[in-house]
Amino acid sequence: MKHENKVIILDFGSQFTQLIARRIREVGVYSEIHPCNVDPEKIKALNPGALILSGGPSSVLDVDSPQLDPAYLEMNVPILGICYGMQLLTHSMGGKVVSSEDREYGRADFCGTGGCELWQGIESLDKLTVWMSHGDRVESIPEGFKICGSTESIPFAAMADEERKIYALQFHPEVAHTESGNTIISNFVFKIAGLKADWSMASFVENSIKEMREKIGDAQVVLGLSGGIDSTVVAVLLHKAIGKRLHCIFVDNGLLRMHEREEVIGFLEEHFELNVKCVDSARLFLDKLVGVEDPEKKRKLIGYTFIDVFNEEAQALKNVKFLAQGTLYPDVIESESFKGPSAVIKSHHNVGGLPEDMDLDLVEPLRELFKDEVRKVASELGLPEHIIWRQPFPGPGLAIRILGEITDERLEILRQADRIVQHELHATGWYRKIWQGFAVLLPLKTVGVMGDDRTYEHVIALRLVDSLDAMTADWSRLPNDILARMSNRIINEVKGVNRVVLDISSKPPATIEWE
Ligand code: XMP
Repeated sequence: MKHENKVIILDFGSQFTQLIARRIREVGVYSEIHPCNVDPEKIKALNPGALILSGGPSSVLDVDSPQLDPAYLEMNVPILGICYGMQLLTHSMGGKVVSSEDREYGRADFCGTGGCELWQGIESLDKLTVWMSHGDRVESIPEGFKICGSTESIPFAAMADEERKIYALQFHPEVAHTESGNTIISNFVFKIAGLKADWSMASFVENSIKEMREKIGDAQVVLGLSGGIDSTVVAVLLHKAIGKRLHCIFVDNGLLRMHEREEVIGFLEEHFELNVKCVDSARLFLDKLVGVEDPEKKRKLIGYTFIDVFNEEAQALKNVKFLAQGTLYPDVIESESFKGPSAVIKSHHNVGGLPEDMDLDLVEPLRELFKDEVRKVASELGLPEHIIWRQPFPGPGLAIRILGEITDERLEILRQADRIVQHELHATGWYRKIWQGFAVLLPLKTVGVMGDDRTYEHVIALRLVDSLDAMTADWSRLPNDILARMSNRIINEVKGVNRVVLDISSKPPATIEWE
């Protein structure tokens, strides 16, 4: 039977598992991650062209550590074990793993040997910088294997059974610090497993439109559009698939930035002729928020009010059978992980909420994609740079950037200050260089002097951060003259502000938002 052109990664809990999937996709082959305790029959049914066993924090020597189901070895597909994956293969095929006193973490010099196919095209094989992260190590390799490389501290750093096409590495080829890591991964995927590079965003778009057409038939679909990249891409993809039968609902909660509503909807309506219903609920949200100062209360109130408004609008539509959502692959992996949903999921983010009595099925066209792939799809769909590279903006909007009570006056001050920050970031090219940049209105007033008068007015804080995934962040080192310009403009142009301060805290222990 011919195998499908995809790689399945069994996740044993490594922090790098997602990276393995991304590296494989980057070379043009589709890959999927499954928890290591998945039923092997399920993996068999997927008929993958290759298997990868990820690293993981356990020790194969522990009684309750995840083991390798022999069914995988009988599947007769090429296997690559990485780190814990190597120890698992060793342990379950008759070799010996021992625990060592010194945990090896970080760079190591690797010397590849044995004419192994994994090393094809690598020139400096006698001294390759690789990334290690392990406690246990392999002391003797199973029968049928040959040694393919070592480091100063471990004699068995790579091994292969070329006849059965089973390969194993103690180091991590998927991390950027490993030299020629991509070559090693490509060799496994193409030379050893014989797969083809057929995963591209163009083919994704084409297939996804076809699949959605089949799934949806002639039914109607509803989607909550926020203006962020994920929901925008879902909207455009679905529009291409089913045209006007897609109904987008954009809820204006009164907590958006200046001109945001026109910028988000105007563009989409003009260029893609999307069917967007803009619900002006600003007053409803703002009235509910009167007197509310506690950040969690604000979030919950906004989340539940959003669900109410959205459901009411969705229910007013006829014949709606599907709810579309911009779920991404990391959310899917996270919720299916064998470790259980980890701390990565933030309870406060994007309260979902299916209109239960409508009994809707889900359409989630981005379920298989990483964020950077969504950006590529956006570009494939002809979306402009300002949508593709839009910085994240939280669901509760400016409410969590106004510390203390939200009033119309305080909202207006923050909007104007934020507009200046956005403008300066764009004008200086820093918008694309940083993760997020915005203004925060503090719950205090300070003394100042303007002309001959003493003033007692509001303080704006600038929050500008660098980050890769919002899990950790550091404050961006913007040139002083740009900061000075932001501060001058805010104090001169925004009535009611006489002081601007800069937030120089990292996350952790601070967070990106102030509330
Ligand atoms: P924190 O403040 O937790 O933010 O460091 C991490 C990222 O998440 C965004 N954020 C939110 N997004 N609803 C959202 O949709 C929220 O309630 C929320 N709170 C924070 C924040 O802008 C940053 O990108």
